[in-house]
Amino acid sequence: MGRVQDKVVFITGAARGQGRAHALRLAAEGADIIAVDLCADIATNAYPLATQDDLDETARQVEKLGRRIVARKADVRDPAALKAAVADGVAELGRLDAVVAQAGIAPLGPQSAQAFIDAVTVDYVGVVHAVEAALPHLPDGASIVATGSIAALTPATVDNPANGPGGLGYSFAKRQVAAFVHDLATVLLPRRIRVNALHPTNVNTDMLHNDLMYRSFRPDLDSPTREDAMVSFPATTGMGNPYVEPEDVSDTVLFLVSDESRYVTGMQMRVDAGGYVRKRPQLPTF
Ligand SMILES: NC(=O)c1ccc[n+]([C@@H]2O[C@H](COP(=O)([O-])OP(=O)(O)OC[C@H]3O[C@@H](n4cnc5c(N)ncnc54)[C@H](O)[C@@H]3O)[C@@H](O)[C@H]2O)c1
Repeated sequence: MGRVQDKVVFITGAARGQGRAHALRLAAEGADIIAVDLCADIATNAYPLATQDDLDETARQVEKLGRRIVARKADVRDPAALKAAVADGVAELGRLDAVVAQAGIAPLGPQSAQAFIDAVTVDYVGVVHAVEAALPHLPDGASIVATGSIAALTPATVDNPANGPGGLGYSFAKRQVAAFVHDLATVLLPRRIRVNALHPTNVNTDMLHNDLMYRSFRPDLDSPTREDAMVSFPATTGMGNPYVEPEDVSDTVLFLVSDESRYVTGMQMRVDAGGYVRKRPQLPTF
């Protein structure tokens, strides 16, 4: 028996990066997966997003683990598309036990105000849409996990003016994710549905490894390389490591989806190698 044996989990942004790692970790522990991804680029987001091939590869790897997957191209900004994907998945897989709402973009750089709107609609409104699509199918005792960021908890990171409107939008969106999870957890207590936020520090994915993010970490250089950025990445961790791996985050997702966390709700869980406490913040007020 796996730790999430025969549960069905809906994951947004599952084509690559953390989303794929979560799908594989959960499948390895017995879950079937409903996976969605945009599989296209967004104009204000300067690095490429995942492709249909990436989503197919996630599906192939889940099936290789002996589990089932329903994978659909869908935009988290489109509630009807998410509802259709979840309905297809539930029809094929028979049930839905958990949501991992984690599709995201980081449209940093000298962009127009549209970058702010895109960050908010993908990184925050997309989380609300994922929950909205899943809720009618979720039984009592289900689990909702939303990915925020250390940017939700520590000011002067990606909301630094040098990161432009999209950086401010990213931080705004992640703060809203934190607040949404807090209040949604309250609303769902009578149904024992747990709602938790997961806030990673730098994660070793394409969102971190692109020129704009390198420039954000090395504003002193015109064209910083990955090696240049590696020097500064540990500024957002506390243990000297430049980043955590997607699988480090997946382990916490697995715990939150499993029944091991059945009385854990409303949490702002950090997988940040101490990046938050290192800044010696006051205890949070909410
Ligand atoms: N990588 C980091 O350093 C880091 C740090 C903190 C938080 N996060 C958060 O982790 C989550 C996962 O990001 P990642 O690190 O795996 O990056 P990633 O870019 O590898 O993965 C993000 C995925 O979301 C998909 N996506 C983007 N917009 C979408 C949309 N509108 N609809 C559906 N899918 C869409 C992309 O195609 C991609 O597959 C994001 O919410 C991100 O903000 C990442």
